[in-house]
Amino acid sequence: MSEQMVEKSREPAPGDARYPGEPSTQEIIARDRVPAPDWVRSESYEFLGDEDISIDRYTDPEFAQKEFDNLWTRTWQFACREEIIPEVGDYYVYDIGRHSFIIARVAEDEVRAYYNACLHRGTMLRAPGTDGCANEFKCSFHGWTWNLDGSLKQALCDWDFPHVKAEQFALPEARVELLAGFVFINMDRNAPSLEEYLGAEFLSHISQWGLEDRYTYCHVSKSLPANWKLSMAAFMEAYHVLDTHPQVAPSNADANSQYDFYGEHVDRFISSLGVVSPHLKGQYTEQDIIDQFTLGDSSVAGDVPRKLGEGETARQRMADIIREAFETQSNTDLSGVSDSELLDCFSYTLFPNTFLFPGISLPMVYRFRPDPDNHRRTIYEVFFLRPVPKDGERPDPAETVYLNDDQSFTEAEGMDPGFGAILDQDTENLILQQAGLEASAKQGITLGNYQEIRIRHFEQAVDKYVEGAA
Ligand code: FES
Ligand SMILES: [Fe+2]
Repeated sequence: MSEQMVEKSREPAPGDARYPGEPSTQEIIARDRVPAPDWVRSESYEFLGDEDISIDRYTDPEFAQKEFDNLWTRTWQFACREEIIPEVGDYYVYDIGRHSFIIARVAEDEVRAYYNACLHRGTMLRAPGTDGCANEFKCSFHGWTWNLDGSLKQALCDWDFPHVKAEQFALPEARVELLAGFVFINMDRNAPSLEEYLGAEFLSHISQWGLEDRYTYCHVSKSLPANWKLSMAAFMEAYHVLDTHPQVAPSNADANSQYDFYGEHVDRFISSLGVVSPHLKGQYTEQDIIDQFTLGDSSVAGDVPRKLGEGETARQRMADIIREAFETQSNTDLSGVSDSELLDCFSYTLFPNTFLFPGISLPMVYRFRPDPDNHRRTIYEVFFLRPVPKDGERPDPAETVYLNDDQSFTEAEGMDPGFGAILDQDTENLILQQAGLEASAKQGITLGNYQEIRIRHFEQAVDKYVEGAA
């Protein structure tokens, strides 16, 4: 065999390569003092191909229309948190494209999603994006009224409508399922159950997070200047950290982050914090790393002593600091919670519109929706969740803060300034990426086999729905 052929045969198969000579995420986590649970200590990656992804999906309004017709009408979507509608009669209007739903609590343990359109001449029964409390839904045009349970209560001048039979004029409904404090809806009567859609493996993860016992302490909404799929992809990999967010690279093991997917609709990454980026190896001491470390919710950790003793690691000290700070803040015992859960960035995508970050220090949810009037824009929301204090009183969820294009994420009340700056950096990229795709001579985007697998996995699901095969 020639030398070149020997060299070639030693090359890993596509997708098998990892950052050379650096510990994997699992190896980093395995060194922690408080060990991680099974949902952290597993890997689920597979090579899914290396072909380019076509650009038209981000630039062509016809593609966006196909998504509205075939994807958004057939997938389970996070419509609202249950905490927005705690009492019978509470409702929230969830809008997706031209579709709109009144998500109403009709009984203590029952939530329904009514198509938000009057059955007389079509007027919306409630304005988009609003919420409130009602014991009936009355149309503002001619006053037709529905009971909370969706049955027709009254049609004005019913003598003129002998052809309107109440039993045929109940408000049509989408399907609703509740999971971990989230209300999910699906317009497709024949879709699999939410359980089947998300899969047993993911359900075993989410069941351990207690997200139903958290409340929204900050909710920010802003239009992003790019297609919804580009916007989501910007948050699916840590590959961009070094160049886009250089301020966090000294304490983020970016290039050795872990990427997984579970079935067709769920994927995740784990990005270890308190460890220097492999790209910057040798440039920072453990003391430098902890000095540079910024927390997603810095208001909690406050001003803590960061001087490391002999042999101490930045990662372990940060885990200890966060454990103590969050125990005080939420009046909870976190001694059994692993260092990794306290410290690391876990991000799960639930296809098509939701990211869950179940970690303790960065407890967020993202939601992305295409702007129905412009395929180059995305309605983006971030919800910050905190554990409900142990003394019982569930705080009211925060009001939504709406930011305009000229406003920085740092301006939103409740937003950690360091984290707001990161979102601003991502937004700047998106402006250039959307424009660049439209200016490009190349007709596809090229992805890394491992670090960008979530994007490929996500786009494969998009294709399945858009082509009608899912
Ligand atoms: S359109 Fe609603 S009552 Fe006429
Ligand atoms: Fe980013």
